[in-house]
Amino acid sequence: MATTKTKTVWYCTSCGNESPKWMGRCPACGEWNTMVEEPRQASSKSVPAAAYRSERSKPVQLNSVEATGETRVSLCNNELDRILGGGIVPGALVLIGGEPGIGKSTLSLQIPTHCPGLKTLYVTGEESVRQVKMRADRLGGNSENCFIYSETLIDNVLEEAKAMQPDLMIVDSVQTMYAGNMDSAPGSVSQIKEVAAQLLRFAKESEIPVILIGHITKDGYIAGPKVLEHIVDVVLQFEGENKGSYRILRSIKNRFGSTSELAVFEMTGSGLREVSNPSELLIPMHEQGLSGTAVAAMLDGTRSFLFEVQALVSSAVYGTAQRSATGFDVRRLNMLLAVLEKRAGFHLSAKDVFLNMAGGLKITDPACDLAVICAVLSSNFDFSIPADVCFAAEVGLSGEIRPVAQVDRRIGEAARLGFKKIYVSSFASTEHCKDDIEVVKVADVPSLVKKLFR
Ligand code: TYD
Ligand code: MG
Repeated sequence: MATTKTKTVWYCTSCGNESPKWMGRCPACGEWNTMVEEPRQASSKSVPAAAYRSERSKPVQLNSVEATGETRVSLCNNELDRILGGGIVPGALVLIGGEPGIGKSTLSLQIPTHCPGLKTLYVTGEESVRQVKMRADRLGGNSENCFIYSETLIDNVLEEAKAMQPDLMIVDSVQTMYAGNMDSAPGSVSQIKEVAAQLLRFAKESEIPVILIGHITKDGYIAGPKVLEHIVDVVLQFEGENKGSYRILRSIKNRFGSTSELAVFEMTGSGLREVSNPSELLIPMHEQGLSGTAVAAMLDGTRSFLFEVQALVSSAVYGTAQRSATGFDVRRLNMLLAVLEKRAGFHLSAKDVFLNMAGGLKITDPACDLAVICAVLSSNFDFSIPADVCFAAEVGLSGEIRPVAQVDRRIGEAARLGFKKIYVSSFASTEHCKDDIEVVKVADVPSLVKKLFR
């Protein structure tokens, strides 16, 4: 008999690519320093993720496929349901990622305790059954249909789940689970791939939705290979401002709904509370506006909401002025400052500029440009913008103010929240806007300055 020699292979932690030797740069995804050494698996020809059907299938004509209508299971949590596209789809594999302590376990345990009709199998590889019980007591609700299973061997988990046939299975977390047929340690690239593939096969065969919890590395990626995100149907990511009480759940990938959806929660003593109107916490509490703040009407996914942009402009102490932005792209800030300098004649090159987005939001919507410019100018002049004024427009390189998508929705949301005036681009079409709010149209930065800071 041939002696079995433990062989190792190198996996890329970014894309899961396999290589017989170490390389500084992964040839598949081009990332540097991502290769890790792991034991080679005897049966490394694991079933590809999509091959979950045991019988051989045949091509069918699309028209002849019977549409079964959309059946979705509500998770008794409006925000979570909305971000999933109206409830969870049977057989879906949903990954929830986030930093430690942000509330992944709390949110997922809240589903069975607030949904008494939903038979749930909660598999915990991180906490003991007692710990989960203590948390469930804190969360309140009714947990008679929730079954806790403390196990890390995925084969046992799937066996129990097949016997029990729950309506929902939650696995906390993918990094603690391991497959018995592999030698590598739990949390390694090959284990994560294998565990996720097995769970996917289980979900698709049994039509039971599975929620999978995943950790995040210090770089902000879901730990494990990028392939994990390719395998699952939905990726939700928890974000939070430095352990403040607000948590933002963002949809990064969704095969059954829109991405760029966003849900806001507040961590309270008894679990995560849904914040159905985020504008209320993102716009200023102070009655009289302070200088350096402006409110932007932004759109995230299907929802429009308003939030405060804060800027601080001060004389630079050192030779080179500092530019710093939290929640906003600093290159875009530099561009907007250059536009102010070149097109409107404001000398900001000798000023430090600090920018901050309220609530720890990360803003990518270009409609916030106008609010950024106004916050910067307001701080520069020490002139406060009235608290009932908001902004929704993009700023172009030649200083022109450009229209943004769905301006009517933004105006409607601003009016609903009691704003009296909104600045938009003069090219925006607002004919069918019937809201009780004054819409001010501006064409370029100089005319905005004339209108606003007269
Ligand atoms: P947890 O869900 O354990 O985080 P994760 O699973 O993402 O690591 O969240 C733990 C944090 O939430 C912890 O710091 C305590 C806090 N918390 C509350 O403030 N209120 C609560 O009701 C619960 C259950 C937790
Ligand atoms: Mg946890």
